[in-house]
Amino acid sequence: MAKALKDKKIGFIGSGIMAEAIVSGVINKGLVDPQSICCSDPYAARCEELEQRYGVRTTSSNKEAIKDSDLIVLSIKPQVLPEVSKALLGSFDSDQLLVSILAGVDSKTLKKALGHHAVVRTMPNTPARVGEGMTVWTATDDVTKEQRNMAQTLLAALGQEVFVSREADLDMATALSGTGPAYVFLFMEALVDAGVHMGFSRRVARQLVLQTVKGSVDFALQSSDTHLAELRNQVTSPGGTTADALYQMEKGGLRTVLSKSVFAAFQKSRKLSNVISDQE
Ligand SMILES: NC(=O)c1ccc[n+]([C@@H]2O[C@H](COP(=O)([O-])OP(=O)(O)OC[C@H]3O[C@@H](n4cnc5c(N)ncnc54)[C@H](OP(=O)(O)O)[C@@H]3O)[C@@H](O)[C@H]2O)c1
Repeated sequence: MAKALKDKKIGFIGSGIMAEAIVSGVINKGLVDPQSICCSDPYAARCEELEQRYGVRTTSSNKEAIKDSDLIVLSIKPQVLPEVSKALLGSFDSDQLLVSILAGVDSKTLKKALGHHAVVRTMPNTPARVGEGMTVWTATDDVTKEQRNMAQTLLAALGQEVFVSREADLDMATALSGTGPAYVFLFMEALVDAGVHMGFSRRVARQLVLQTVKGSVDFALQSSDTHLAELRNQVTSPGGTTADALYQMEKGGLRTVLSKSVFAAFQKSRKLSNVISDQE
């Protein structure tokens, strides 16, 4: 599988934060030669930065990044898609693969906007920047088996990847894993504040909270046969401190708030997908 990108050329349209996460992932894992990558960005200083940091080729022309590439990553902000796609309509060869990381833009919209049918649509998340991302992806019927392997190898460089056959599942992924880091950061921030409230310095409270979350995640991953409720019960002595804390969380509706919040993000994702496809 790791050989899927060997000798392949990769182009990036838009070379911001997420594009850099992919570039850094595939180069650090030795999946492609840096000179096989061509990043396009309108900001010259950004191009220079990427050239110096990774040894990739850069250009200010999106068409140049597409030319000769086997796989093209569309990594612009969704807002600039109408302008970018208008200029690129018809620029793709039929054997090229387009991998979009644009939030909320479905493959039907991408196919129509760019006049290209082999499309992989993904929903990554920000921990991709440290190689610990969770990316959910799907592919149109025109994507070949070889192209799927290429996409899977590229996305695995960001962390874990999960393929879904129903594109509608990407709205659920947006609400759970795409938006998820924000929920976790808010949860950790609230715990740090609670630590400060009791009297810990912010530095120590942060260390305690981050390691507790990291350790709990590692523990849960290594106890995959054990239900999360059972792991929680193991920390909850009858009449103890944890039981008091959990009682307050349940009384405050923490579970319901989380469920409603994720569902709100899911509905918003579906609504935004419809708005963007109506605009195109
Ligand atoms: N960040 C996340 O956590 C996350 C998670 C999931 C999905 N995504 C998706 O990933 C995509 C990229 O996000 P990001 O955070 O990497 O954004 P970003 O850092 O703003 O990257 C976008 C890049 O595109 C460049 N650009 C603007 N206009 C362009 C044009 N006409 N042609 C080519 N490049 C152009 C921007 O340059 P300038 O800065 O000079 O304008 C910027 O470098 C978005 O569609 C987002 O929905 C992001």
